[in-house]
Amino acid sequence: MKNEMTRLIDRLEAAHHLSAEEYTFLIRHRSPEMMEYAAEKARRIRLERYGNAVYARGLIEFTNHCRNDCLYCGIRRSNLHCQRYRLTSEQILECCGIGYELGFRTFVLQGGEDPFWKDEDFCTLIRQIKELYPDCAVTLSLGERTRESFQKLFDAGADRYLLRHETADEAHYKKLHPEEMSFSHRMQCLRDLKEIGYQVGCGFMVGSPYQTPQSLAEDLKFIEEFSPDMCGIGPFIPHKDTPFGSFAPGTLEETLWLLSLIRLMLPHVLLPATTALGTIHPKGRELGILSGANVVMPNLSPVSVRKKYELYDNKICTGDEAAECRGCLSRRMESIGYELTVHRGDVRR
Ligand code: SAM
Ligand code: FES
Repeated sequence: MKNEMTRLIDRLEAAHHLSAEEYTFLIRHRSPEMMEYAAEKARRIRLERYGNAVYARGLIEFTNHCRNDCLYCGIRRSNLHCQRYRLTSEQILECCGIGYELGFRTFVLQGGEDPFWKDEDFCTLIRQIKELYPDCAVTLSLGERTRESFQKLFDAGADRYLLRHETADEAHYKKLHPEEMSFSHRMQCLRDLKEIGYQVGCGFMVGSPYQTPQSLAEDLKFIEEFSPDMCGIGPFIPHKDTPFGSFAPGTLEETLWLLSLIRLMLPHVLLPATTALGTIHPKGRELGILSGANVVMPNLSPVSVRKKYELYDNKICTGDEAAECRGCLSRRMESIGYELTVHRGDVRR
């Protein structure tokens, strides 16, 4: 077993691809020893490509209004306990100003799919950010839109787009989403974004309800073929006011294992150690970096709204003490021998 595992890990490192069956085998037979074997290689590959720099992205969660009803998500439209908020353009620009002073050179605008925000509003905002901070990258994470809309936002100056595919297994997708949502549309969005010229991020939750080793292998196969610039993976964490409120969360170990495998598969990829990982374990983000991740996304949203952007229970960095996430993450990265950097941190293919 051990020989077969090391052989597959070595081959993934050398060839950057495996078959779905081989990925399934790796996923099924994870062990602490193999995790360390893969993590050590992942750290070396990341070091060769990116050094010991960890890129910081300033995350602005600008609205929790959402027209969608994803079964796992705390801000789904059916959650009547969710206190809705929406930042104004002025408030968002204020967050960027604070972030710029703190050294951030990437702003990530993330929100639910909020129909109040029209293409024109986003375009004006993106132009304003680019005018004020021409040395910064703007990343959007606004969910599914039409190709025309993606194009307009790109033409206004947006550089990158994060849209997790959520699962590459269509049958699994149907178990996580209401009937009106479409797997093929989400995948089409990802292809459109790439064709338009964005740096694109896909990704999925680890341990989401009904996930199997085979569906995870399909995720890895999809990521291998799509070859994204960024890949966001983090554990699923239940939210009490959703249909999945009593499901078990994804595990630290499986998330770290997948981070290492993805680094071996795509040496160039920008791979965040997510807030969800920091939520299931106090040192989750540090362990994510030590498994091959190279991005963190501290929260720049006003403290007054952070608790309301609650995708899952017990999300970290939502209290007053977290007003200055950058300092906290800087110290955390230093504690493991890495350096939080302020560069734009574009992908290095
Ligand atoms: N609306 C945009 C979209 O659909 O891409 C961006 C916001 S959405 C809330 C961001 C990501 O949060 C989703 O892609 C999903 O993977 C993740 N997420 C939602 N609920 C979660 C949960 N309960 N546990 C962990 N991650 C979750
Ligand atoms: Fe937000 Fe530590 S990263 S408080």
